[in-house]
Amino acid sequence: MSDAHTKQEVRQFYDRIGWNEGSEGFYQNARYEDLRSVSHGYIHRCHLRVNRYLPPKGQFLLDAGCGPIQYPEYLTYSAGYRYRVCVDISIVALQEARTRIGKHGLFVVADVANLPFKSQAFDGIVSLHTLHHVSIPDQKKSYNEFQRLMKPGASSVVVNGWKASPLMRRMQPLIKGMERLFGKNTGKSPRTSHSEVESISPVEKEPTGTYVQKLTAQGLREMLKGMDFEIRCWRSVSVRFLRAVIQPALLGSFWLWLLYYLEEAFPRLLGEKGQYPMVILRKSE
Ligand SMILES: C[S@@+](CC[C@H](N)C(=O)[O-])C[C@H]1O[C@@H](n2cnc3c(N)ncnc32)[C@H](O)[C@@H]1O
Repeated sequence: MSDAHTKQEVRQFYDRIGWNEGSEGFYQNARYEDLRSVSHGYIHRCHLRVNRYLPPKGQFLLDAGCGPIQYPEYLTYSAGYRYRVCVDISIVALQEARTRIGKHGLFVVADVANLPFKSQAFDGIVSLHTLHHVSIPDQKKSYNEFQRLMKPGASSVVVNGWKASPLMRRMQPLIKGMERLFGKNTGKSPRTSHSEVESISPVEKEPTGTYVQKLTAQGLREMLKGMDFEIRCWRSVSVRFLRAVIQPALLGSFWLWLLYYLEEAFPRLLGEKGQYPMVILRKSE
């Protein structure tokens, strides 16, 4: 399948399904997240990690593959910026994003691998859970675009899951055992009705819904050779792990506090071995 065809398919998925709101007020895309209250504090703190590696203020923050800016924490990334430049191939994503940030946003339909902006235009760049929707050569092009678009002194934060997380592979027996004990959990809030839960397909693996191409840590290092970058932990566990292993009745919140502090203590190790790394690119002054 050509890159153009793949992008068309991804766009259609987000326009027609991903960014449609279900009756609970969540986007369909939220089925790929654990929205239970037991996990909320942990997920909230992981989202806020992005802020540590972005310049706190500036003129333009680029959000490449912005989606609808679906979580409140995402608003904090551009709080110190004059404009958040929202780029997405899905027009529905941009329409939704505009309802959240109005005049603080500039909204552009574009492909993350071919960005229509002049070089060194941005003080900061974020790209969350987006690059895995383009082919590996286009992922490289996207990183090159971020490098080109950063002002000297700027940084970019890119979050995507690894192709295979060694940590999550080791956790498979635990995940499977807990799924046998507690059943497969959709990760929706307890307010969700039974019929709605059943209409969501069981979570066998991490679901994706559309084209996804992920890298290993080694593949990423080869791709970014010559760039100034580091890999840190954004979140070390998968959604499937959270839904299966973190149970409110089994001190779930406590285990997530502990996990968070382990991630803080070993950000590089858990960035490489865990499920979701944060790739930080820098451009020197
Ligand atoms: C999983 S969503 C993530 C959205 C948002 N960053 C978040 O974390 O909630 C991926 C987004 O990337 C967009 N996207 C996919 N391929 C893209 C491309 N080639 N160029 C620009 N946006 C793209 C999709 O339309 C979708 O809105």
